[in-house]
Amino acid sequence: MAPSTDSVVALYPGSFDPLTNGHLDLIRRARRLAGTLVVSVLNNEAKQPLFSVEERVEMLREATAGMGNVEVTSFHGLLAEFAARRGATAIVRGIRAISDYEYELQMALMNRRLRPEIETMFLLAAEENSFISSRLVKEVARLGGNVSGLVPKFVESRLTARFLNPTKV
Ligand code: PNS
Repeated sequence: MAPSTDSVVALYPGSFDPLTNGHLDLIRRARRLAGTLVVSVLNNEAKQPLFSVEERVEMLREATAGMGNVEVTSFHGLLAEFAARRGATAIVRGIRAISDYEYELQMALMNRRLRPEIETMFLLAAEENSFISSRLVKEVARLGGNVSGLVPKFVESRLTARFLNPTKV
């Protein structure tokens, strides 16, 4: 009999600034491979995100509300150490195109060096999501373009509100 995945904790880390439909597709697929999927937002003070960590966590919680085995948190410091503290045996990352691979490979190898017991698993983005990135979504929204279908509806509203209120951008 194949071992059960019920006890597997997998960690899906990222900036999620903001959450896109590409991220959401990955969460839906990754949660089937683990007992618990921890989705965690990097809290990086050195970066200037559009949305605060709290806002990004909130958006992820809203999007995953019906997904029983998904937990949303934030982390700071080393990903490999956070994964170990959470008891994760796998780190999940998405790959859209070959251009993602080099960066992801470097991170996976560094994380393996830091914590050899934790595997990085790559899931291929769905073809229809393979051009979506948070960076481009922000750029298009900032310039008044239509991002519907690229992010959940409530993220779209938050983007519109943020770019209509220049004091917060
Ligand atoms: O969504 P992103 O911005 O591609 O996610 C990048 C992330 C958060 C996975 C990466 O920057 C990260 O793990 N940062 C934590 C610091 C760390 O562990 N650095 C060494 C990684 S090899």
